[in-house]
Amino acid sequence: MPCIEADGLTHVYFPGTPLEMVALRDIQLTVNEGEFIALVGASGSGKSTLAQHFNGLLLPASGSVRVLGGDTADKKHRRALWRYVGLVFQFPERQIFSNTVFEDIAFGPRNMGWDSLKVARRVKEALASVGLSAEMQTANPNALSGGVLRRIAIAGVLAMRPRVLIMDEPGAGLEPEARQFILAQLKELQAKYGITVLLITHNLEDAARFADRVAVLRAGELLCVGKAGEVLSRIELLQKAGLKAPFAVELAHRLTVAGIKLPVIPLTIEDTARVLYDLMSTGAKPGRG
Ligand SMILES: Nc1ncnc2c1ncn2[C@@H]1O[C@H](COP(=O)(O)OP(=O)(O)OP(=O)(O)O)[C@@H](O)[C@H]1O
Ligand SMILES: [Mg+2]
Repeated sequence: MPCIEADGLTHVYFPGTPLEMVALRDIQLTVNEGEFIALVGASGSGKSTLAQHFNGLLLPASGSVRVLGGDTADKKHRRALWRYVGLVFQFPERQIFSNTVFEDIAFGPRNMGWDSLKVARRVKEALASVGLSAEMQTANPNALSGGVLRRIAIAGVLAMRPRVLIMDEPGAGLEPEARQFILAQLKELQAKYGITVLLITHNLEDAARFADRVAVLRAGELLCVGKAGEVLSRIELLQKAGLKAPFAVELAHRLTVAGIKLPVIPLTIEDTARVLYDLMSTGAKPGRG
């Protein structure tokens, strides 16, 4: 079932002025309920602009966007979307204003109209989801590091348990371990609650590890969308989009050039290890050519 449908979506910043800028052109994209999809593209390709159409923050200059059964151009539908579509902005730490971590994370859940017990429970669960302890609740956000603030901002959205979760570069500026932890948690939430996850990233290693499907933007246009395995193994297409294929794909490509053809193109190094192990343990000679 589709949960987001962009149909001929075009976005123009500052229309009719000398600064006019077409940031998205004729985008055709369907995101299915419950899937984990990565939206990748070089800097300036339009990822953040597209994300903001999916929770109704921006409206198309032409074309339409339907989210969870309604058109975002419909004011009533758009105004209700915040409950169901959580968007973690690219630099969420800039949006922390509260005096304690608890207050910050509880902001959204309180607006949902939940009682204080439920709010407190969700805050605690959300903190755990981003790898922070319950003691953190009383801390003053002003005293915390950027990486921790990032996790708190993510927790604030998770606590609302949205049906669709859009994360705009959630890992940028985080330590690799923290990034992996958060993405793995998201994957778990997706499986456990059937949440639809849209991950915006220019890290194709993350896309390879977590996404079912991948959509590639280039200069405001959708270059391609498909299964992660298909899209991420197209080295030339990714290069055209200004992106670097996952290391495992590059490696498989180089092995092929060297005359060692793998039976499948692995996307992660763990996959590579498995494929090579199978090749060796079955004693089969890798294909030449
Ligand atoms: N508020 C704005 N006003 C005018 N132009 C904008 C605005 N936001 C983005 N743009 C322009 O629209 C284009 C797409 O920007 P967008 O931020 O969506 O790209 P992005 O893929 O998210 O890039 P990044 O990877 O750097 O975050 C860029 O050319 C950008 O300069
Ligand atoms: Mg962006």
